[in-house]
Amino acid sequence: MKPYNEQIRYFLQLLFILTGILISSFSSCKKVDSRETIIERKIDSLLSLMTLEEKIGQMTQVRHFKDISNDDDVANKFIGSVIHTQGPLPSENKAAEWQARFRKLQEQALSTRLGIPLLFGVDAVHGQNTYNGATIFPHNIGMGAANNPELVRKAAEITAIEMLATGFNWTFSPCVAIPYNEKWGRVYEAFSESTEITTKLTKAAVEGLQKNMEHPYSVIATAKHFVGDGATEEGSEGGNTTLSMEEISKRLLPPYKEAVKSGVGSVMVSFNSVSEISMHAHKELITDTLKLGMGFNGIVVSDWKGFSRFGGVNIINAGVDMVMAVDGDLDFFQDSLKKSVLNNWVSIERIDDAVRRILRQKYLLGVFENPFPDSLTIPQIGCVEHRNIARQAVRESMVLLKNHNNILPLSERAKKIIVVGEHAENAGFQSGGWTVTWRGVDGNYIGATTILDGIKKMFKGEVVYDKKAENPVKDADVAIIVVGESPYVEFFGDIGDGTGDYTLTLKEEHQKYIETYTELGIKTIVVLISGRPLVTTRQIQQSDAFIAAWLPGSEGDGIAEVLFGKYDFKGKLPHSWPANVSQYDGKYGPNYWDKSLKPLFEIGYGLNYEF
Ligand code: BGC
Repeated sequence: MKPYNEQIRYFLQLLFILTGILISSFSSCKKVDSRETIIERKIDSLLSLMTLEEKIGQMTQVRHFKDISNDDDVANKFIGSVIHTQGPLPSENKAAEWQARFRKLQEQALSTRLGIPLLFGVDAVHGQNTYNGATIFPHNIGMGAANNPELVRKAAEITAIEMLATGFNWTFSPCVAIPYNEKWGRVYEAFSESTEITTKLTKAAVEGLQKNMEHPYSVIATAKHFVGDGATEEGSEGGNTTLSMEEISKRLLPPYKEAVKSGVGSVMVSFNSVSEISMHAHKELITDTLKLGMGFNGIVVSDWKGFSRFGGVNIINAGVDMVMAVDGDLDFFQDSLKKSVLNNWVSIERIDDAVRRILRQKYLLGVFENPFPDSLTIPQIGCVEHRNIARQAVRESMVLLKNHNNILPLSERAKKIIVVGEHAENAGFQSGGWTVTWRGVDGNYIGATTILDGIKKMFKGEVVYDKKAENPVKDADVAIIVVGESPYVEFFGDIGDGTGDYTLTLKEEHQKYIETYTELGIKTIVVLISGRPLVTTRQIQQSDAFIAAWLPGSEGDGIAEVLFGKYDFKGKLPHSWPANVSQYDGKYGPNYWDKSLKPLFEIGYGLNYEF
């Protein structure tokens, strides 16, 4: 028999061992690795197997019909992503053909040693707008006027479904710019000049597109263009912004912070410079502020040809992870990056970080498990349910700026209505740039209804169309005059010194339409189709009612539903509305916050019917 002390020691040891076993078995039972942890482990193991060429390949995005000489290049050059923008379609206008095209490319990617799937990117900026027949929503400026996060979320969900149905899983939207100068040709791609509105709607858009990334209808969203795109001097695309870092942080960064909080998968860097430093090479903003400061762990993607345009490997060192190696950049990008790594100009840690971010999004989205498009989604493209939401967005985006003697809503008792202006019967014009083609279309497209269609649907009396106000109808009860800008995209829409195609005022021809009818003494309702506020002080005075309808997209009949009072106006100005052209010089840039400038209407203005 052991002595008493020894017995106690023995007992205590036993207790200690048993407790240890219990704790360890308890904790190993409880320790279920999170999806994120498992994904990081998978990335570690994949990274450890990858050659430098395979890593650089992952960092490469190309156009499938131009930058690669044949499909084998996807495998031979270990391409990480394919973008479709401008240029030939994957065969006729059939979603099944698009899916088949991307399936073929995906098979190439999967045939490689490590079988890493591709991401398919597209600029679905107001619906899956590259597909003729998709549901096209109002451009973001209209969504900013509606200022309804739930609606933005639904529109984003629909965009995701229609993207997936055409074979894409990564969109370069939302544009979260805050335009401080309406001379910029991309004002309409952004929600508002208000940081607050933009931040709120950014969250809704990212959540609607991505959901939790595991949903069958999740796609990767992109907050763009980081940062200062809308705040360049004179509003020139890719220009320079002189805003201080404090102002950038206070006014331009909040939507990015919100996007990161919502888990946005990618951020696109901008063409512009900040205090003369190109944003693509701006390490302080990309790496220190966005990645380290905000904790962004997704992909920083370059903009078009960003590598050759903005300093080659400097952009990788600044923090760009994936490069749009398009229009002749592919070999140059891959060769220079390889050489730079071999010469230690770019560290392998930076490359691994970039590839880790790309693989992370691929795992999160589940493309390793489900690399191919789902053909069962195809019937959802442009379906009635989607169009109903887009029509609601059209109605909610319209802003009523004047309603003299309550001429609106239009009475069903009227006998004859005259509709004027080429914008009334042109779905392309009412949709702006990024519609069916990059620069938009002049004419109708599949599934769209025009404003004239909508008026004819709603009004039981006679509707006469006088396209160019050449045959004025003197006995009409009222003239609905639909005028505005014709489609433009990116720098094409910059106004600059005002000598180009676009101006801050209505075209003279369009001013005449309004004059012709007001001089006849006919009541006029002006519907302005534009991607930004225009100086229309005189036309607002001349007309009886004036509506800013922005760029409503494919559901033109939403306009008539409000004009005839089936629904009330809800939209409020997402930008202040300049009173005269000279205000553009003083309102923005260094004087932007000069409160002595009095716009014609303040941001937030908008009347309604008060039923
Ligand atoms: C635009 C981006 C767009 C990209 C890809 C660029 O020219 O600035 O907004 O996402 O092209 O099409």
